[in-house]
Amino acid sequence: MAKITFITKENQEITAEGTSGSVMELAVNNSVKGIDGDCGGVCSCATCHVHVRSEDMKVVGAAGEIEADMLELDENVTEHSRLCCQIEITDALDGIVLEVAN
Ligand code: FES
Repeated sequence: MAKITFITKENQEITAEGTSGSVMELAVNNSVKGIDGDCGGVCSCATCHVHVRSEDMKVVGAAGEIEADMLELDENVTEHSRLCCQIEITDALDGIVLEVAN
């Protein structure tokens, strides 16, 4: 189980617990504002864009090739950008903090 904290653009902090599935699904199920998951998690909408804290990057990892291409079309892209539908929940993610990008 992993506890993941989301910080919205309005600085609302939402911590949710997940055991499986994607981080996007966890965010949508917990009504995290700014994470819409419009494409259902197939990496084609970028409505699940988050920024990962520097210290959490080694746990979460960098975006894959298709994900990086998709991110290029979005705003607020940084080296810490990820599409959270592409992040699978594992115990290793426990304690990470993700800032909603848009
Ligand atoms: S939900 Fe569409 S790219 Fe992540």
